[in-house]
Parts: sequence; structure tokens; C-alpha cells
Amino acid sequence: MAARSERYTTVAITLHWVIAAAIIGMIFGGWYMSDLSDGAPGQYFLYQTHKSIGITVLLLTVARIAWRVMNPPPTLPEDMTGLEKTASHFVHLGFYGIMIALPLTGWLYSSVSIKLDVPTVLYGMISWPDVPFVEGLKTETASGIVNFIHSKLAWVTFGLLALHVAGALKHEFSAEEGVLKRMLPGLFGKTEKPKAPGRGALTAFGAALGVFALIAGTPVIVGAFSGAGKASTQANFTPNWAVDYGASSITFSGIHDGNAFTGSFSDWDAAIDFNPDALERSRAKITVNTGSATASQKLYTDSLKSPEWFNTGAFPTADVEISEISSVDNNGYTATANLTLKGISVSTVFQFNLTIEGDTATMTGQTVFQRQPLDLGQASDPGADWVDEDIAVDVIVKASRIK
Ligand code: HEM
Repeated sequence: MAARSERYTTVAITLHWVIAAAIIGMIFGGWYMSDLSDGAPGQYFLYQTHKSIGITVLLLTVARIAWRVMNPPPTLPEDMTGLEKTASHFVHLGFYGIMIALPLTGWLYSSVSIKLDVPTVLYGMISWPDVPFVEGLKTETASGIVNFIHSKLAWVTFGLLALHVAGALKHEFSAEEGVLKRMLPGLFGKTEKPKAPGRGALTAFGAALGVFALIAGTPVIVGAFSGAGKASTQANFTPNWAVDYGASSITFSGIHDGNAFTGSFSDWDAAIDFNPDALERSRAKITVNTGSATASQKLYTDSLKSPEWFNTGAFPTADVEISEISSVDNNGYTATANLTLKGISVSTVFQFNLTIEGDTATMTGQTVFQRQPLDLGQASDPGADWVDEDIAVDVIVKASRIK
């Protein structure tokens, strides 16, 4: 067993104050954000920040517990009664419970909430999965209970905090040996006996890092082995143009939380049969790999894959058929775009400009889809409070004539 010192180690002191500040800040932040009306500016950012800091608290708690096991805290002062010592132990135990239960219930709630079915991206950079195997709890009742527990634990925290602060102050000022200064940084908490440096930092923080890598890394590894596949069009006509995919693009754009976002599909396959002198027979068929969509923020990229958006697991591709092409002016055309996504088909007007020079054609076109008819984001944002209803799609195609 490691030797006990009069003060806590620097690592223990740092973890104590960082976690305490984070939890208190998170409680007030949590109250503030859940009181906002749906679609309030910045609400999305606040929720993601809340989740990021909450998961950080969970990981720091892993480090803190591992550190405590390897570096037992100083014994309680002799002048404390047996009852006070027992109460103090229970309050500390309660705090460890809170440090684990608050983030875990938050994580569970965001995993099973129907209203907040939005992926978690830690600090806008690292995808954090939902709690595994809890699909069955995705009901109004179950998620309501989890939310209730998460929210009420805030008050349990304040109850424990009141007892904790009262105990610390009583034994700082009215007892012979102060307890508060043992947990204060060196500047404020000088004691006569020097503190031991502590041991096992690598193990403690390694454990936290290991938990993090296991949770964040598993979906990445599983995804890498699941093999996304490539888009491939099955057209019932013979194409007469070959697309240069390196010089072509399908991009989309819209408004989220008041800000413009853009994205693109990196994998799609098109069969084109186009003849400006035979527009009535001209057509195109495009198959898009829905999982190849990337957007301007990682959170959007992750959201697009989720069941309420593209549901890429169940519907890995979307199909677009361009037909009913008619000429508008010199290079301008209008056509019907029939999109089938998640088994739902909608038609929109597709307008494009086309120039053909020798055997090379360049086309730029655009159309606008509405989210609601395509059942996109209808669980978390049916009223278009966060994401605008209109999604614009821009297409650039460079193609060469097949001879
Ligand atoms: C230190 C850890 C945490 C603390 C102290 C904390 C505290 C809170 C508080 C006080 C609320 C407001 C509850 C109410 O409506 O009365 C809240 C809401 C929420 N928390 Fe946490 N939380 C923590 C960690 C997490 C984590 C890790 C996640 C998810 C990964 C999370 C997800 C949420 C969500 C989604 C809400 C919103 C509930 C709603 O709007 O209905 N929390 N949190």
C-alpha cells in the first residue's frame, strides 16, 4: 500500500477541482439549454458542447478512480467523531456515484431520445456512438424516465454539495486539523508535511484513454470492415456519354441553425443517353451512394447517415431519373428529376445548361428538394426549426461522347 500523506496529491487536487467546476457549470448549462425554445440560435452548439464536456467528465472520473485506488487519500483528522467520518465517507461515495451516473444517464438519454435523435460529435471532431443495445428504450416513456433521472440527479448533486461544503468548512475552522487546505492547490493549501508525489499517472490516464478508444474506436473499426460498396447504375438503355467523375460533382446545400451548410457525394454512377436533336428519348439515370455524403461539419456528416436522414444502413443508395427534357433557350434545358430515397419517390424540376464542344459535354444543373416529403429529419426536426425545409442540389457533369 502506498504511504499516506497529509495532503492530496497534485493530480488528485487537479482532478477534484476540474471535475467539480465542470459538473457545476454543466448543471447550470443543462438548465439553460433545456429551457430554450426549439430552434433558438446556438441551441445545437450548446447541446453538443454539453455532451462533449459530459463525456470528458466521465473519462476524467475513470482516471480519478484509478488514481485514487493507487494513491489512497490522507486519513481523516483524528478529532472527527465516528459518525462524522461515516457521513463523510457516504458523501464521498455519493459523489463518485454522481460523477458516473450524471454523464451515463445523459449519454443514455441522448441515445434513446426520439426528440433529440442527433448524433454526438465530441468538440466537433470525434464521433461518439450511442450507448449500444438500448434500441428497446427508444420510446416516449423510457426516454422520459431516463431524462427525469438525469435532471433530478442535479438536485442530488446540490444536496451532497451542501453536506460536503458544510463538513469541509466545519473541519477547516472549528477543528484542530484543517481538511480544506489538504485539497487546495499549493498556493493556498500549504501544510507542514510535504505531500507525496503520487504514482500511476500513466495507468490512471491510460485507463481513461483506453475507455475512450474502446468506445469511440469500435464503430470506426466495425465500419471499416463492413465494406460500404460502390454505387453502380443499372440502366435499361445504352448510354452514349461517359462521365469524367474527377471533373464532375453532386453537391447539396441548405441552412442549419441560421448558417449555410454544404456537402457533396463522393460516390455516384451515371448512365446518360442524351441527344440534343432527340430530346424526347434523352434521359439519364444516376445511382448515389448515400453513405458517401460528407458535409461542411462532422456533425452533419454523421447526422446524414442516421436512420431519420439517409438511413444508410437500410438504404445504401438513392436513384435519380432525369426525363421529359425540353429546350428552354440556346443552352438551357428543363427536365423532370425523379428521386427515390428510402423507398420514397418525389419529382422535381431540374434545370440545366449544357454545352457540347466536339465530343466533350459540360452540364451544370440545379434542383431543390423538400425534406418533409422525403421523410428527412422528421423525428428530431419536423417543424424545420433547425434545418430549413429546402435542400438545393447542384450538379456539374463533364462527359465525353461514347463512340
Ligand atoms: C457532468 C455531467 C453532466 C451533468 C452535470 C449534466 C447536467 C444536466 C442538467 C442539469 C440538465 C438539465 C435537465 C433539466 O431539464 O432539468 C441536462 C440536460 C441534458 N443532458 Fe446532461 N449532464 C451531464 C452529462 C451529459 C452527457 C454526457 C450527455 C450526453 C452525452 C448529456 C445529455 C443531456 C441532454 C441531451 C440534455 C437535455 C435534456 C432535454 O433538453 O430534454 N448530459 N444535463
